[in-house]
Amino acid sequence: MFIYEHRDTGVFHLQNAFISYIFKVMDGGALEHLYYGKRVHDCDIFHLLHEEKMRSCGAVCLEEPSIQSLEFTPNEFPVYGTGDFKTPAIGIKRSNGSLVSSFVYDHHVVYDGKKELESLPSLYATEDEAMSLEVVLKDSLLNLELTLSYTIFKDLPVVVRSSRIVNHGVEDVCLDRLLSSSLDFKESAFEMIDLVGAWGRERYVERFPLRTGIQGVQSLRGASSAEANPFMALVRKETTESQGEAYGFNLVYSGNFLAQVEVSSFALTRVSLGIHPEMFAWDLKAGSSFESPEAVCVYSDCGLNGMSHAFHALYKGHISRSVWANRERPILLNNWEGTEFDFTEEKILAMAKKASDVGAELFVLDDGWFGVRNNDRAGLGDWFVNYDKLPSGIDGLSKKIEAMGLKFGLWIEPEMVNKDSDLYRSHPDYIVGDPERFESHSRHQHVLDFSKKEVVDCVYEMLIKVFDTAAISYVKWDMNRYITEPYSKGHDGKWQGEFMHRYMLGVYELYERLTKRYPHILFESCASGGARFDAGLLKYAPQAWTSDDTDAYERTKIQYGTSLVYPVSMMSAHVSAVPNHQLNRMTPLVTRGNMAFFGAFGYELDLNLLSEEEISIVKKQIQFMKQYRSLIQLDGKFYRLLSPFETGNLGQIVVSSDQKEAVCLYVQGLNTVNGSWLRFKLDGLDADCLYKVTYHSFTKDEEVIGSFYGDYLMRIGLVIERDDLTALGGDFASMLFTLKAEVA
Ligand code: GLA
Repeated sequence: MFIYEHRDTGVFHLQNAFISYIFKVMDGGALEHLYYGKRVHDCDIFHLLHEEKMRSCGAVCLEEPSIQSLEFTPNEFPVYGTGDFKTPAIGIKRSNGSLVSSFVYDHHVVYDGKKELESLPSLYATEDEAMSLEVVLKDSLLNLELTLSYTIFKDLPVVVRSSRIVNHGVEDVCLDRLLSSSLDFKESAFEMIDLVGAWGRERYVERFPLRTGIQGVQSLRGASSAEANPFMALVRKETTESQGEAYGFNLVYSGNFLAQVEVSSFALTRVSLGIHPEMFAWDLKAGSSFESPEAVCVYSDCGLNGMSHAFHALYKGHISRSVWANRERPILLNNWEGTEFDFTEEKILAMAKKASDVGAELFVLDDGWFGVRNNDRAGLGDWFVNYDKLPSGIDGLSKKIEAMGLKFGLWIEPEMVNKDSDLYRSHPDYIVGDPERFESHSRHQHVLDFSKKEVVDCVYEMLIKVFDTAAISYVKWDMNRYITEPYSKGHDGKWQGEFMHRYMLGVYELYERLTKRYPHILFESCASGGARFDAGLLKYAPQAWTSDDTDAYERTKIQYGTSLVYPVSMMSAHVSAVPNHQLNRMTPLVTRGNMAFFGAFGYELDLNLLSEEEISIVKKQIQFMKQYRSLIQLDGKFYRLLSPFETGNLGQIVVSSDQKEAVCLYVQGLNTVNGSWLRFKLDGLDADCLYKVTYHSFTKDEEVIGSFYGDYLMRIGLVIERDDLTALGGDFASMLFTLKAEVA
């Protein structure tokens, strides 16, 4: 890894074994982007890539003698007022209404390692793992200082970017936008991939060719959202899972975002990523500063799996400081789908007892333990135990459960309140919304105004009273509605433009305080299922509830899409009852387990309702997960093999870092009658290694299928007989295999 500074030509070249990222200071001081992609040798001609042309209608913007229009020039951080009419990365509005600004190069700094952001979750790296470049630009009229930060990782094809502005002037200005990253490509022959959906079908993969103009995804919901993840990729037409170029972009942020691609009439492609400029206006007072979230840029020339490996390695090793980040995740039983609000202490203890009997390690008490929370109309915000339901309190219950040999976990939804609650009755001003208009509710709940310190403090004080006294090892932090009327009561107009971001700062602040106070607790984030599944929260919560949709076949799509960016260890995946609560679909218990193995594994049903035969399968599943959990969650590389979106079936494999072991799964959608054999081709293996392949049915003993070379398994594939799938239940049947290198 190296950062070359060509002082005579103003070129910067960030380079490691995989990638090069090159830009230069132009005459006049603005920055021009020159190249990002597969590594190239450093040389002294990069500056000749500079393209500057005048065409009709192109404004002449920079001062004599270096007149030019930036319309055709790839721009490293575009601003209003330069003849570049495409989406800008920064917008400064003066009190006189002028939006014109001009940031020119002032100085730069290069250093080993990486700085963390002050107010937002960010990646970390040691001095041996990364190098950073900060380029400082100035708008001399207003005395504004803009710092563009770049970090290149030594062993990963990754550049992390962010931007920061400081107002050293005497004039207050309004920051209309400050994106994290803007990246121009001198070509447009790409397809775009994004992850879109809704509640119950989060992060579905969508792929389409770029067209001239604007396309992209966004959230204006106050959360990164189920509708679109803060991610996009640009790939070549021919790119597949295992080959071809892929550029991946991901924002380390949990609130409103914009991830946009704009293709100009001159085939220049601009990728813009950052906090959404809509509903954003920051009062950048003289003397104050603002920092953007970080944007992660990944390049792969080994297909989408290569891109995902870079994201996974980055997020496994460089974001969460939790002691749980690199620990095997406890196998849990969560009571939600088993009981919803309808439980007693006796019932919970009976569920926990069975969980302990089958070998689970953690019992999680979900919604309904506090206030008068007997349904979703009341109690949210009152974080004290409901003794009518739980006479021993959380304190007593958690200790009884620990005595069974299980750890204890608890559900909270700290950002929300029901109007029917003590908290609302004493603080009606705490909720978000315009008091002169109807205050809408969703699931009968309102959003607490986390942009206010006193609100965050109040929730914190209530929670620590519970956490301090009970034996709590895990917390599921839920968030079940979006912000529909962003308005903070009692604040002036300027605050309202800052509200959406300040709300997120309040959420991060509470996470920061709770994770610091309880470093031993494993936090899991959740938002109506997977509506806030992003790298921002990953810093505090190393795992997230992937979706409320627990149907095993639906999970093939949700987990497949999620895996494009996020590691398996982050995806909570539970075996639930059939018919499935969300879809009324029947799937085999074995398939439900097989899908959930590729995640933070658990159960979400009343085990006391299962037959003896089913309990015996559950016991075997738990034994299997204990044996392979470290490989699946920590050590292994995850490869997608067959896309449920393209084939209706799923194939995936996790291969150990030494390529000596692997776990792979085939899940079929609908069964085929009278079909021929399948050849299930694997990936990631050592071509020359001989592997013993074992099939795990969970109903009979494990069965050794045979021994095959890695190249056979990758080129020819494992043969799966259709009749076997029919015998396994037909629709939604699955087969799980383990591979072990034969000792020579
Ligand atoms: C959300 C979560 C569920 C469950 C319920 C409880 O929907 O996604 O897992 O915790 O809330 O109300």
